[in-house]
Formats: sequence, structure tokens, C-alpha cells
Amino acid sequence: SDAELPRLTVIGTGYLGATHAICMASLGYDVVGLDVDPGKIRKLQSGEVPFFEPGLPELLAKTLESGRLRFTTSYAEAAEHGDVHFICVGTPQQPGLDACDLSYVDAAVRGLAPHLTRRCLVVGKSTVPVGTAARLSGLLTELAPAGAEVELAWNPEFLREGFAVDDTLRPDRLVFGVTTEWARERLAAAFAPILDLGTPTVVTDLPTAELVKVAANSFLATKISYINAMAEICEATGADVRDLAQALAYDDRIGGRFLQPGLGFGGGCLPKDIRAFAYRAEEIGVGQAVSFLREVDAINRRRRSRTIDLVRELLGGQLNGQRVACLGAAFKPNSDDIRDAPALDVARTMHGLGANVRVYDPAALDNARRTYPELRYGTSAMDVARDADVVVLLTEWAEFREIQPEALSEVVAHRRIVDGRHALDRDAWRAAGWEYRALGRP
Ligand code: UGA
Repeated sequence: SDAELPRLTVIGTGYLGATHAICMASLGYDVVGLDVDPGKIRKLQSGEVPFFEPGLPELLAKTLESGRLRFTTSYAEAAEHGDVHFICVGTPQQPGLDACDLSYVDAAVRGLAPHLTRRCLVVGKSTVPVGTAARLSGLLTELAPAGAEVELAWNPEFLREGFAVDDTLRPDRLVFGVTTEWARERLAAAFAPILDLGTPTVVTDLPTAELVKVAANSFLATKISYINAMAEICEATGADVRDLAQALAYDDRIGGRFLQPGLGFGGGCLPKDIRAFAYRAEEIGVGQAVSFLREVDAINRRRRSRTIDLVRELLGGQLNGQRVACLGAAFKPNSDDIRDAPALDVARTMHGLGANVRVYDPAALDNARRTYPELRYGTSAMDVARDADVVVLLTEWAEFREIQPEALSEVVAHRRIVDGRHALDRDAWRAAGWEYRALGRP
């Protein structure tokens, strides 16, 4: 086995890249992180993580101090340093289109390749449409001075925001998409401490490795939309989706994770991944195989409008002029990420319908304010609930779960609450005199 640890570079220091760079340095690798944004690089180099992620700032401080981690904007420097180069740039949804935007991935390969003068491995981690790796492999051979000595591998990433450090250091599994034994060995050397934990590893080809990621996210999205579809049936029949989900979850084959009904999924991954997957499948002539993902998406969007319907019903049919307190803006708790956040979608729609909306979130307020300056924001749950006609819980932060109905009763104008995430104790709130409504529950 390879006693000497390969030197790593990480191209792209967004959510995925910064986490990966910092975690790999913490495992003892010499890591250079590259980004084309000098502002990001300056922040990271001075010990500041440009986004909210528990545990990461502490780990960044430690790894910077160890001297095993530095940041640059220079592709020449990255190429000189790295034996293994990880591509960790974003692949956002194209505006107005379901396909994802590969321009950052292409730019990373085109930036790095001309500087690759010796044998090395380039590893794609970004979520991409199947077939991208094969194309990039050709591009590398064409553009790199070392030509075919530069190999491409694919290693999808499954980290969750809020658990990014742990998911990176102790993943459920590793997937190595490779075309040669040399590439497999290089990847094994780049993940040696994680493999030593006994982490299950699937070694496969490039298209399978690309697909694993979108297949996993599509499954998770489908599971959430499944229980939310059941919530729609519950709403029409007087049944209780919480009890239903609980009863389903006791079947080990089903399991309770990602079976939480409510406002549905958002974020920078699940919604765009299912759309890009459906789009890609159509492109290559197998659209029918995953056309159900369109339905998964539609069910998920309906949760947002149905939540607004509940609020309107509670208010006697009119949102216009009503004071609405929104608890939550982030797409999920323990995150400041507001990309495709169901909470802000609901808040903005109600604002557009003439409601007097005020939003509070424990971590995402700065991002929300910057992106949606038209909304009004408050400094705490109590603050936004003052004189509210209705309170709407949209992101299930722990601090919202802990709110006592009696305490909130003292500040609101009317004791009405819509629990968009099934986060509150219905009976306790009703006992305290509140009109409590939740999706899929009587
Ligand atoms: C997701 C996947 O869980 C990760 O495995 C994957 O690596 C990542 O996308 C990615 O592609 O990079 P993440 O977007 O951080 O991770 O968030 P999740 O914890 O999956 O939550 C996604 C959304 O689903 C949230 O809006 C959450 O509120 C919602 N959700 C989750 C539900 O509505 N119900 C559930 O039961 C679970």
C-alpha cells in the first residue's frame, strides 16, 4: 500500500468544497483549496467559514494552524501541488430550465487542465447529469500537457447540510467511479483513513458513480412526497398523517427517516436534482423511466400552496391586510441556506397576496434579508408574533418546538397557528386555547 499520502487540491470552496478541504486536512492530508472568488479565499485563509455549518469553523482553525491547509486563486499553484484534484463546484439549476448549469464544472476543468504537466487524478464530486464524466475525461486528455496521463474518476458526495463534517469524516459509504486500477488505488490512498474505519465502498464505472448521487436524492425526494401525498388523502378523509407515518415507520423495510410529512423539501439539492434527472433522462430518450419525478415535484409544490390555504382558512378566507408571523426562513433547521426554501416561498406568496408578513429565523435572516428585501423581518419569534393574527411555523428549529403556547398567547392578537412542519404538540396548543392546524391532520 501507498505509505505516502497523496497531496490534494479542492477546486471550488463553496459548501461542498470547503467542507471537503477542511475535513481532508484534518485527516492529515496536505490540501490546497482553490476558488475563483478572491473574497471567499481571503475569508477562508483568515479562518472564516463563509456559511453556517456546525463544527466547521473550529476544524478550519485547527487545520490552518497545522499548516496542512491553504487557499489560493491560482490554478497553476493548485496543479503544481496536487496529486489528486477534487472538482467541487456547484451545478445549479439553469434559470427557467430544468437542466443544470455545467458552466462552473467546465470552467474548473478548463482552468486546471492546461497546468497539468504530470500524471495525476482529477476526481469529480459535483452532482452532474450522467454522461458528463465521459465528456470531461476527453476534455482533460485534450487540454492537459500530460495528456492521457491525467485520469478522471467520479466520487459523488452525500453530505447533508448541518451534518457536513460528520458525513464527510464518517460517510455511510464511498463510491469510486473509475476506469483503471491506478485510479482506484489513487482514490483509495486519498480516502485511506476513512476506508480504515471499515466504510463500505462501491467501486464502479463512471456513469454508475454519477447516477448513484441523483438516484439517491431522487429516492429521498420520492419518499418525502409519498408521505405528503398520503397527507393529501388524509386531509380529504379526516385521517391523521402523523399517526399513519408512525405506523408505516415501524416496518423496517420502510423506516421513519425522510417520512416526515409537512411543507416538503427544498434546498439547493433535492428539488434541482430531480428536475435535472428528469430532464437528462428525456434528453437521452428514457424520460418515461423517471417521469414519476415530475409528479414528486408537483406534490412537493402543492404542499406550499396548501399551507397557504390553511392559513387563509384559519383567517376566515382573507389574507389581505392580516398580520402573519412566519417562524423560519431556512430550507431546514440548523442551516442558513435559503435556496428554494419552502418557508420563504410561502412567506413571499402571502406577502404578494397582501398579508402583512413578518419573518424570523435563528440563522438565515441575513441571507433572507439580502435576497428578499421586500419582506419584513423580526429579531425573535416573540417579536414577529407581536399582534399577529396568525402564527405560521415553516422551519422546525428546536427553539420553535420549545415555544410555550402560554408565552405566545400573551403577545399575539389572535391565538391561531399553522404548524407547517408537525413540530408542535397539537393537544398542548389546543388546551392553551389556540386554533391549531397542520397539513394532513384533523
Ligand atoms: C440532501 C441529501 O439528504 C444529502 O444526502 C445530499 O448529499 C445533499 O442533498 C446533496 O445533494 O448535496 P440536504 O439538501 O442538506 O441534503 O438536506 P436534507 O436533510 O436532505 O433535507 C432536504 C429537504 O427535505 C429539507 O427541506 C427538509 O425540510 C425536507 N424533508 C426532509 C422533509 O420535508 N421531510 C423529511 O422527512 C426529511
